[in-house]
Amino acid sequence: MNSPIGVFDSGYGGLTILKELVELMPENDYLYLGDNARAPYGNRSFDTVYEYTLEAVDFLFQQGCELVVLACNTASAKALRTIQQRYLPEKYPNKRVLGVIRPTTEMVGQLSQTGHVGILGTIGTVQSESYVVEIAKFSPQTKVSQQACPMWVPIIENNLMHTQGAAFFIKDDLTSLLDKDNAIDTIVLACTHYPLLSAQIQKALPQHIQLVSQGRIVASSLQNYLNRHPAINTKISKKGQCAFLTTDDPIKFDEMGSLFFGKKIESAHCSLEV
Ligand code: DGL
Repeated sequence: MNSPIGVFDSGYGGLTILKELVELMPENDYLYLGDNARAPYGNRSFDTVYEYTLEAVDFLFQQGCELVVLACNTASAKALRTIQQRYLPEKYPNKRVLGVIRPTTEMVGQLSQTGHVGILGTIGTVQSESYVVEIAKFSPQTKVSQQACPMWVPIIENNLMHTQGAAFFIKDDLTSLLDKDNAIDTIVLACTHYPLLSAQIQKALPQHIQLVSQGRIVASSLQNYLNRHPAINTKISKKGQCAFLTTDDPIKFDEMGSLFFGKKIESAHCSLEV
């Protein structure tokens, strides 16, 4: 694997994106990096998320990646713009970093019948207002309400998805969201961890509300991007391989990561701090 597509998340969540990338574009090589040792990122400051994300991107570039996908909403919300506008032009003018927010916000307005959309994410993603600002660009008539769900990532990372505690926090956060706007008919899981709770969330919602996960949206948007940018696409090595790195314990990563990826994973440890 000399030039895989880098896929980065604070921990396991990005595996829900990688899974769809591999399904749609199995020919590419992928290198996944989970910064599990420092997850969750969701309630960390802008500066910290930027610093950690930059270290991860730099590391993936050093591994030969020409293109890195930030498969994490928190990192996309807090670090992507500065990386694209300042860091890349100065240090790596030919490399690319893409996020998960733009592809989602480009099309979510079309999914709602009522024009009322709900966003569920980490505190960082919600406070950044990235979804509100971006949806307004593509679909100015859509009304967007947000709810931060700070307990969901710890519940997922600790494999507590099927507990009464999980059901309590899901109900509580969904009630708060729908109290803000009861005409919502479309809810975006704007955190790459949340698809692991899809069944529980759907169960707690009225039937007419559709849940949107980002994996497929991001995968088809990346496929489209690569078709439009052959200079990048031809640099990506295409042996259909996937490798996994974690900054924490690889044994735990393999166990939990398989739940997110839907297949067995064998990871190795790496260190990002310089
Ligand atoms: N999976 C990340 C996201 O999409 C966040 C998880 C975390 O808080 O680290 O926002």
